[in-house]
Amino acid sequence: MGSQSLVTEILPENYRFLQAHVYSQVGIVLEDNKHYLFHSRLAPIVKHLGLGSINELCTLLHARRDREIGQQVVEAMTTNETYFFRDPLQYNAIRTVLLPRLKEERRDNKKLRFWSAAASTGQEAYSLAMLLLEEGLKDWNIQILGTDFSSKVVERARAATYQQIEVNRGLPSTHLVKYFNRNALEWQLNEQVRRMARFETIDLRKSMRTLGPFDLVFCRNVMIYFDNETKQKIMKEIHSTLFRGGWLLLGGAETVFGLDEWFDRQTVANMTAYIAR
Ligand SMILES: C[S@@+](CC[C@H](N)C(=O)[O-])C[C@H]1O[C@@H](n2cnc3c(N)ncnc32)[C@H](O)[C@@H]1O
Repeated sequence: MGSQSLVTEILPENYRFLQAHVYSQVGIVLEDNKHYLFHSRLAPIVKHLGLGSINELCTLLHARRDREIGQQVVEAMTTNETYFFRDPLQYNAIRTVLLPRLKEERRDNKKLRFWSAAASTGQEAYSLAMLLLEEGLKDWNIQILGTDFSSKVVERARAATYQQIEVNRGLPSTHLVKYFNRNALEWQLNEQVRRMARFETIDLRKSMRTLGPFDLVFCRNVMIYFDNETKQKIMKEIHSTLFRGGWLLLGGAETVFGLDEWFDRQTVANMTAYIAR
């Protein structure tokens, strides 16, 4: 049954239905040439529900308007790829340029706030937490917020438990020894690191003005999935959550058209930071 679902063509009306469903639920644009992606990502759901094809899944979704299945489809179509210290240049710039400045500016209240928007399973937020500890900010009041649309990845981020293959990606072995506890075949971040970050389910397309103010926002490797209108709206919201002079960091290859309205683009320690006006 599962293999049949891989070969049955998605009917054009069902393809459009799936595109519209994913766009309305999460804002992700899936172009007309993503048949293979729908097939590979939705095949497990088709199989799990005992259906014969993606077309049958669409019929079910149409008929039942089942929220849970609808959410499963959206979560299957989002890309959650992430790893520790992804884009080392950015962490280096935080360490060498942003933190020295913040240490000076905030020496009285010793309070810093960060946001990992589109946090996925938490590696970005926890990489920052470890970096802050390494930089001697143990006694500071640090709050790192991690948010994601998907409750599934948010639960994983809260658990802070990673498989061997995940700790092998980007994480220095010294950090593994220092900040993780081995739990059978998995590794869990220790209490000190976990306490610094909290995770919430938040759709980036919603108003985010009440979340800040932040010193730094990571919004990495997610804007590529949105259309221009959605990108503009999100950038404006993020700007409203940052302190003046606060940093926005996008993914290495990402640029967002129209960002100049709210941010100054600066090259800092060989990478690009967007500084809130
Ligand atoms: C590729 S991951 C990026 C993870 C991390 N920022 C990094 O760069 O390693 C993209 C994440 O964006 C999330 N996402 C997609 N659309 C979203 C939305 N509308 N609101 C919030 N999160 C969203 C996905 O669930 C996914 O976990």
